[in-house]
Amino acid sequence: MAEHEVNHGRRRFLTATTAVVGGVGGVFAAVPFLRSWQPSARAKSAGAPVVQNFGKLEPGQRLIVMWRSQPVWIIRRTPELLAGMGTLNDQLLDPDSTGNPGQQPAYATNPTRSIKPEIAVIVGICTHLGCSPTYYPEMQPQEFDGHWQGGFFCPCHGSKFDLAGRVFKGVPAPSNLRVPPYRFLDDNTIEIGVDPSAKAA
Ligand code: FES
Repeated sequence: MAEHEVNHGRRRFLTATTAVVGGVGGVFAAVPFLRSWQPSARAKSAGAPVVQNFGKLEPGQRLIVMWRSQPVWIIRRTPELLAGMGTLNDQLLDPDSTGNPGQQPAYATNPTRSIKPEIAVIVGICTHLGCSPTYYPEMQPQEFDGHWQGGFFCPCHGSKFDLAGRVFKGVPAPSNLRVPPYRFLDDNTIEIGVDPSAKAA
């Protein structure tokens, strides 16, 4: 009886040992495979969200933040600049941003293309051939537009965008500038690359 119990116990031990060895072997076999599919730390950080405080941004000023190797503009628009934008619709190709739904998140599909009207967040890459448009915030005649209400002019081939990144008619750029996903963490801090619906980290 006692011997039977011992043998039984040894059999259980051998069975358990075999299972563990098999498990370890499985882990060793799986790790190289998993590693080959893991992004490097550098790649992860290149695609990671970017948190930026913009509390010192003065009215009319622009801050440039790099996200996924792209310049993202954060602009504090004044009531005057917003009013000027409101006069432009008939000069714009897609004033309601309905032509290219992928160019902005749903929460930025509105006349200011933003969550808060006074804060613009725009990817600063021309939708023609990828140049970086120049910022002209002043509401005054420019040599490329006698009724300029503030916005961006691309020096490469002359595309024009308003302060929401909406493209003008009759220029080479085919669509509005892109609005990235973003959310506000507080009144002066923004996180670029994350939607407002995302759970807090
Ligand atoms: S790249 Fe901007 S107009 Fe051509």
